[in-house]
Amino acid sequence: MNYFIITGASKGLGAALVKALSAPENTLFCISRTRDDMLVRSASEKGAVIEWLLYDLNNVLQIDTLISMIFQKIDKQTAKGIYMVNNAGLIQPLGMIEKASSSDILNSVRVNIAAPMILAARFIDLSRDFAGRKMILNITATVKEPRSDWACYFSAKASIDYFTKCVGKEKQKEKNAVKIVSIAPSIMNTDMRGEVLKRRGIGERLLYFFRIKRDLEKPIHPDTVAKKLVHLMLELDPENGDKIHVSEIKGE
Ligand SMILES: NC(=O)c1ccc[n+]([C@@H]2O[C@H](COP(=O)([O-])OP(=O)(O)OC[C@H]3O[C@@H](n4cnc5c(N)ncnc54)[C@H](OP(=O)(O)O)[C@@H]3O)[C@@H](O)[C@H]2O)c1
Repeated sequence: MNYFIITGASKGLGAALVKALSAPENTLFCISRTRDDMLVRSASEKGAVIEWLLYDLNNVLQIDTLISMIFQKIDKQTAKGIYMVNNAGLIQPLGMIEKASSSDILNSVRVNIAAPMILAARFIDLSRDFAGRKMILNITATVKEPRSDWACYFSAKASIDYFTKCVGKEKQKEKNAVKIVSIAPSIMNTDMRGEVLKRRGIGERLLYFFRIKRDLEKPIHPDTVAKKLVHLMLELDPENGDKIHVSEIKGE
């Protein structure tokens, strides 16, 4: 049995991962504030064991309890692999930083930075005595240069990339270590993308649709990204701490 812990499983890339992993050899622990009942039914019909944990990752101090509960349900004697995808993300607050409320800034820091760090730390600790394949994927973004209006989101993604590099370095020296990598999933058609487009003025939107038509900015379907991530988890052997763009993942 393979075990997968997926945050932000209710929508977008997280839901696509649940679909891609819906098979009899997999147990899925899905974490988000809402549940997609159709997704649960479809995963069960395909033979996967699926458990949904309704949880708000803003509650960072209860994450220890949440992850301990999940690990109690993992049979390490028979498990082939244990995987975690830190996928939940929050794009808000967007706009000039002085317009953001302190609580919105704190929400972004909790969900985008503190939660994945704590989840990774507990995962590494609780899987210490498991000798099979174990991997953490931190879903970040392509962060090339500073961008106005996106200070919280991109700072958070850059922070998790750096966290991944540091932890990856720690793990390079260890035997039987967890693999940890960060993933830039490219632009995908999801609710998050919709939120970004809603903010754009009419001129910017027209330019965006023109760029899509000319194939200059083509969003990828989350199902395509999910298949590549499953291939990476189950088949590939990335360097610990690496940042990988989804286009670099070859074969499925
Ligand atoms: N879409 C893109 O173009 C794009 C590009 C680069 C990187 N990414 C990254 O890819 C990942 C997935 O993005 P997406 O586009 O699939 O986003 P999405 O459609 O907005 O879905 C976000 C997921 O995160 C969960 N989530 C948000 N806040 C949460 C909280 N406080 N507690 C628990 N769960 C929470 C949501 O579930 P609930 O609402 O049910 O809680 C939802 O399942 C994110 O990390 C994002 O930053 C996306």
